[in-house]
Amino acid sequence: MRKGRVIAVAGKGGTGKTAISALLIRSIIEARSDDGICILAVDADADSNLPDALGISYDKSVGDIREELLEAKQHDVMLDVRSRFEGKIAEIIEEADYFDLLVMGRPEGPGCYCPVNHILRMTIDTLAKNYDYVVIDCEAGLEHLSRRTTTDVDIMIVVVDTTLKSIKTALRLKRIADEIEVEVRRMFIIANKIPGGYAEPVKAEAKGYGIEIDDIIPFDQLVVDYDTKGKPVMDLPEDAPAVTAVKRIASRIINAQAL
Ligand SMILES: Nc1ncnc2c1ncn2[C@@H]1O[C@H](COP(=O)(O)OP(=O)(O)OP(=O)(O)O)[C@@H](O)[C@H]1O
Ligand SMILES: [Mg+2]
Repeated sequence: MRKGRVIAVAGKGGTGKTAISALLIRSIIEARSDDGICILAVDADADSNLPDALGISYDKSVGDIREELLEAKQHDVMLDVRSRFEGKIAEIIEEADYFDLLVMGRPEGPGCYCPVNHILRMTIDTLAKNYDYVVIDCEAGLEHLSRRTTTDVDIMIVVVDTTLKSIKTALRLKRIADEIEVEVRRMFIIANKIPGGYAEPVKAEAKGYGIEIDDIIPFDQLVVDYDTKGKPVMDLPEDAPAVTAVKRIASRIINAQAL
């Protein structure tokens, strides 16, 4: 049976979660494609950007089918939402080479969707078993963590940049992960977009707040250029500094013990 190791990429808005998620997926595939690996990429941001970063399109989000089913339930109270939900999720998964994509879309509209969120969480837990890795590009806020719409995670990558705000968000994430029932087995803190010569000052600044930076991704003009032109960061050249750094991080994650 596949292991379904769940990696969630979280952090303050704009720190680089989506770019890192895409490059992480690419690096894991490159490292493990000989093993016939399959990854589930989950875009958990309501403002879905991961499909663009991965260079694939999608038709419907989980939010769309949730709306459809809740609508249908109003006309048919006997509707078995759970089994319909599972079937529909299978239908909206986009397939690519070595990875599949699931887009969550809008988290909720008016009314209480709690039972549906519960079903969703269980569905992802079940789905995860079909994959070697699940990589979740989280939304910037911490809401879905505290609402517990995320499954338990093996590794939470918390992305910070040079700003103090992002370090404070990382601190809050750490606290929330401790408080709520989402089990985070390991946190990996990455400083992204770090200009030359800033690695040590950023590490020292973070340390002052009790945050130990595990790895650094340099500022990479190519990432900016690709994003400006709307080119998928997944297609960055092999020798781009961000690609090299994420490759190193991916191999640390693949080899991480005690998970
Ligand atoms: N290593 C890097 N070097 C230079 N620019 C980067 C790097 N990583 C990301 N960026 C740029 O930072 C911006 C934000 O990146 P990205 O969209 O991945 O962040 P995010 O955390 O997913 O944002 P959001 O919270 O809005 O979803 C983009 O313009 C991207 O091009
Ligand atoms: Mg994003």
